[in-house]
Amino acid sequence: MENFTFWNPTRLIFGKGELSKLSEEISPFGRKVLVVYGGGSIKRNGLYDKVMNELEKMDAEVYELGGVDPNPRVSSVREGVNICREKEIDFILAVGGGSVIDCTKAIAGATKFAGDAWDMVTNKVRMEEAIPFGTVLTLAATGSEMNSGAVITNWETHEKLSWGSPAVFPQFSILDPEHTYSVPRDQTIYGIVDMMSHVLEHYFHLEENTDFQDRMCESLLTTIMDTAPKLIDDLENYEHRATILYSGTMALNGILNMGYKGDWATHNIEHAVSAVYDIPHGGGLAILFPHWIKHTLHAKPERMKQLAIRVFEVDPTGKTDEEVALEGIARLRLFWNSIDAPEQLSDYGIDDSKLEDMANKAVHNGPFGRFQVLDKEDVLSIYRSAL
Ligand code: NZQ
Ligand code: ZN
Repeated sequence: MENFTFWNPTRLIFGKGELSKLSEEISPFGRKVLVVYGGGSIKRNGLYDKVMNELEKMDAEVYELGGVDPNPRVSSVREGVNICREKEIDFILAVGGGSVIDCTKAIAGATKFAGDAWDMVTNKVRMEEAIPFGTVLTLAATGSEMNSGAVITNWETHEKLSWGSPAVFPQFSILDPEHTYSVPRDQTIYGIVDMMSHVLEHYFHLEENTDFQDRMCESLLTTIMDTAPKLIDDLENYEHRATILYSGTMALNGILNMGYKGDWATHNIEHAVSAVYDIPHGGGLAILFPHWIKHTLHAKPERMKQLAIRVFEVDPTGKTDEEVALEGIARLRLFWNSIDAPEQLSDYGIDDSKLEDMANKAVHNGPFGRFQVLDKEDVLSIYRSAL
């Protein structure tokens, strides 16, 4: 195990009715609040009105930035920065999924940053300060509600880049499973694939002696896989929504990966696809992850073998490590197919015409991946196998 320091300052407020704590959570930071939200789901499901009622209780001076797109754009970040500077905003409240939260993180950082928001995202200059912000999460998927990362897209250059700083942990996140009832079936599935992929990204590493961490990852995967089929047949089931909501947060808040670093190549490979085709992140991962595992299996087949036996219940009797591992990958594919996740790039109408372009984006900062280092040829081979 590597040395580590665990620090996560986000206050997690979970459960039915917990939105009532909103005004007491925000009040210490000031009265001027910028509320950031997406394309309108919170207006349709009534959450917008509930949030505004809570903000009235603290006599807040409210400003709004709506219309944040899925795969949020740096143009929305710039808009938010202008509002924060002009109105001298004290606190930003994100009400939405990962895209709204990521956009909010970038606004919070870029407002205090001397250069352009995109220079902050590309880390051309380091930022250390941010406006405080909190979140009301509406979609279980990214874990952004309790981590310090964000993914921002520049639609002019077709780049989608991860960025983060300890300064952009949310102050608090309110997670009420009922706020996720209206998430459509397809987005619910993408969220499930995304959180499973976060666990898988952690799981594929070369570190020794991570037995407890392995068991935590396996337990989370098993829980998600037990619950997912029940949830997608019963979208307003409180207990299933609660299990998936909690799972999504735990998958990427730093709890699972103390003492080792995961791989994270598949996220990079997927971000290059969404940067060009604007597809849902979880949909891209469902297509690409099994191909990445197959491509890199030889780095340490024991990892997939262990997962195959413990999570996918493969019987290893009389089989080589590689055979067990391949059966595990096949069962992962079957599980994702069983919940109607996409399987091939062609499901999104993607052909081979832009594979080079996407692979160049993926290797923009050079070879990547910790379980196995990938170069452009590796990425192309994974894309081709996923067509
Ligand atoms: O925009 P609105 O109208 O709100 O609709 C959204 C959007 O169309 C809808 N939605 C959200 N909550 C809903 C709802 N519809 C009905 N009822 C509700 N309660 O769902 C659609 C997708 O929302 P989005 O926020 O884009 O989804 P998600 O949470 O999956 O976020 C995806 C983004 O996060 C990034 C992804 O790359 C992508 O850009 N990621 C961020 C990470 C992080 N910060 O840690 C890690 C992840 O790996 C990921 O890369
Ligand atoms: Zn993800």
